[in-house]
Amino acid sequence: MDATTLLDWYDIHHRDMPWRVPPAARKAGEVPNPYHVWLSEVMLQQTTVAAVRAYHTKFTALWPTVEDLAAADDADVMAAWAGLGYYARARNLLKCAREVTARGGFPNTEAELLTLPGIGPYTAAAVASIAFDRKATVLDGNVERVMARLHAIEEPLPDSKETLRTLAAERTPDARPGDYAQAVMDLGATICTPKSPACGICPWMKGCAGRIAGIAAELPRKRPK
Ligand code: ADE
Repeated sequence: MDATTLLDWYDIHHRDMPWRVPPAARKAGEVPNPYHVWLSEVMLQQTTVAAVRAYHTKFTALWPTVEDLAAADDADVMAAWAGLGYYARARNLLKCAREVTARGGFPNTEAELLTLPGIGPYTAAAVASIAFDRKATVLDGNVERVMARLHAIEEPLPDSKETLRTLAAERTPDARPGDYAQAVMDLGATICTPKSPACGICPWMKGCAGRIAGIAAELPRKRPK
């Protein structure tokens, strides 16, 4: 019921994605490309992994480095973004690429990443964690759902947000925090799904208070608007 149990599961069941360094390669010393990780996190805001894959591959083929992206024509980037929606993200993407280039590369701490244009708390934590293996609390909808179920938090969202953040922070391990962050996301996307969670094959089933109480599928509750 700890991070190690989840990391053991992730070693076998992780999803392959163009921007990821798989756990075996990471253990062998390969490090993620911060530009690839940052680009994936910006694209994944409001867009599914399935849709992002092809766009991510297209962008890194057109602009192999953040410096290449910084030097691109705005119109070319907007055209390549077409179909992903939320065009403010594409404009912020370019702004951030230019700022990163001016600074000589991506900073490697959550606090410094937060000072970049278009990078909010979620993206700063995700990039610090996944790209630089920093211990950071990466809290998205997947992670909120997993934490609400593990601890049988009946208080509805958004009121429970800070409780869920604290629980997520307490669980984050010192070892392999980047793999851990991606493991919780994969768990939320493939097993601890919003509807009909596959509790019978979950690596965290033993200590899951939501499953034991028979209410996992109902959590997290949402406050009526
Ligand atoms: N959603 C947002 N970031 C993700 C990531 N790095 N892996 C999988 N799903 C994600």
